Amino acid sequence: MRGEPLLEVRDLVVAYGRGRALFGGGAGIVAVKGVSFDITVGEGFALVGESGSGKSTIGRAILGLAPVAGGSIRFDGQDIAAFGRRIPLSFRRNVQVVFQDPRSSLNPRRTIRDAIGQVVERHFATSAPATEARVGDLLAKVGLAAYFMHRYPGELSGGQRQRVAIARALATEPRLLICDEPVSALDVSTQSQILNLLADLQRDLGLAYLFISHDLAVVRQVADVVAVMRHGKLVEMGASEDLYRNPTHPYTRMLVSSVPKPDPRGREERRAMRVALRHAANASPAA
Ligand SMILES: Nc1ncnc2c1ncn2[C@@H]1O[C@H](COP(=O)(O)OP(=O)(O)OP(=O)(O)O)[C@@H](O)[C@H]1O
Ligand SMILES: [Mg+2]
Repeated sequence: MRGEPLLEVRDLVVAYGRGRALFGGGAGIVAVKGVSFDITVGEGFALVGESGSGKSTIGRAILGLAPVAGGSIRFDGQDIAAFGRRIPLSFRRNVQVVFQDPRSSLNPRRTIRDAIGQVVERHFATSAPATEARVGDLLAKVGLAAYFMHRYPGELSGGQRQRVAIARALATEPRLLICDEPVSALDVSTQSQILNLLADLQRDLGLAYLFISHDLAVVRQVADVVAVMRHGKLVEMGASEDLYRNPTHPYTRMLVSSVPKPDPRGREERRAMRVALRHAANASPAA
């Protein structure tokens, strides 16, 4: 149910290179220094902050892919760290991830059908025709026509590839989607189409997001709560509208002041533009 706790991160510490340091190698770095936050069912939670502040490290820790040195991460009440390196498949379904550049995660020699179908088969053991039908459904969810399943990643635009990456993430029916800079590599109009899509999916599927970005303007559309990170710590966290209106930490103030101010006279125009873009996105082929 919406509003119920889904993810609880408590006093999380992530340290890289400690092992090497023990043997007299690199000094080791503490990338996350005691971070706590909750994400509830269906909530959009944004993590913003400068490069190197530890945002992606938190995302990786939640996926069980970062060296957690302290604190706890509970998903649906279960401690992820307790699984160690062997996170059960049944549990892994719940949290999926979309990265900035799908080119690095999509094999150029496999069709979209194979890329998404492999995930469907691994998690649901479907027959070939059922897999294909499911891939078609997933493509429809992200605004792509079924014939895209026969294409290769290299034949798609950046926005279309990101839609495929989202469809593949949705294949396991996750409850939390980690989006790590999902629109940073896209041009501005494609960015807004992908953000619209993510907002629609959030509403339709009751998905929760951990949305990672260095850009406060980008997270506005999908974030109920915004947490601002600096040097491995959260410096401010609050309901997104409050934080935009009334930032307290100087660093947040600086971030907010660099977001373009909405111009009330242009609002209707922009709304019309968004509607037009959404229609364009729904009529495939999408950008
Ligand atoms: N695998 C790794 N081994 C060692 N250090 C790492 C590793 N991954 C990240 N770091 C370091 O941890 C710190 C946090 O990195 P992280 O990638 O989490 O930052 P970020 O906020 O996502 O930055 P960006 O906006 O550039 O993506 C940085 O100092 C980085 O150099
Ligand atoms: Mg990062």
